[in-house]
Amino acid sequence: MAKQVKTKQRISDHGEVFTAEREVKAMCDLVADECLRIDSRFLEPAVGEGVFLAEILSRKLAVVKSKYKKSAYDYERNAILALTSLYGVDILADNAEICRENLFALWDAEYTAVCKKEANDEARTAARYILQKNIVCGNALSLMCVDENQQDTETPIIFAEWTFPFNDARIKRRDFRLDVLLKENSNKSNYAEEQNLFDDVALNYNNWTFDPITKKLIPKPVNEYPLIHYRRITENG
Ligand SMILES: C[S@@+](CC[C@H](N)C(=O)[O-])C[C@H]1O[C@@H](n2cnc3c(N)ncnc32)[C@H](O)[C@@H]1O
Repeated sequence: MAKQVKTKQRISDHGEVFTAEREVKAMCDLVADECLRIDSRFLEPAVGEGVFLAEILSRKLAVVKSKYKKSAYDYERNAILALTSLYGVDILADNAEICRENLFALWDAEYTAVCKKEANDEARTAARYILQKNIVCGNALSLMCVDENQQDTETPIIFAEWTFPFNDARIKRRDFRLDVLLKENSNKSNYAEEQNLFDDVALNYNNWTFDPITKKLIPKPVNEYPLIHYRRITENG
């Protein structure tokens, strides 16, 4: 069984106690169908070493394998899609880094076992890059990034949204501020009825914009990147 406690100091400073495997599986079973949807997004706001995200990734990769194991191309693209759907925040930089490493090791072991000779380092680099963006060292209460002393910085937590809008190898990245996403989401029911989709004044109000991809109102992205082959996503900065 994996260790649940590192030091008493870390428990008292940051409430750091990791969840045991049995509880992780039981809790994931409560949302079992979502764990089987390859692109269903999960955010763990106190991610620790990533036990919940690892369980969800395992379940998603099992689905990818059962559907796409005969084609290395399809398997690789869908395994990358599974990885893009997982997000985490932790206030401790070492935990965030261990989380990234744990998720990468799990992903790479499956990827290498299924794709064998066709497994390649470009895809591995893309997987590491996605984890670097999706697992953030920050304060989930203030929604700001933190420094090495766990103090809030001036930088808000920003998450990348990854999609494959044309269902081919091209990936689209848009960055959103987490505080805006959460605020707009909680306000959405209030504004949704009042908003006229085609009214520019309404669209500019309160950071909303009309999303041509989903055809819905969404908070404005802080950054948008050109479509690019997912193996080359590092080129987008
Ligand atoms: C109880 S542990 C749970 C870790 C993991 N979710 C699990 O179940 O194994 C709490 C984690 O939250 C982190 N943490 C504490 N305060 C936080 C905050 N304000 N923002 C983000 N992470 C925080 C700690 O560093 C620790 O890794």
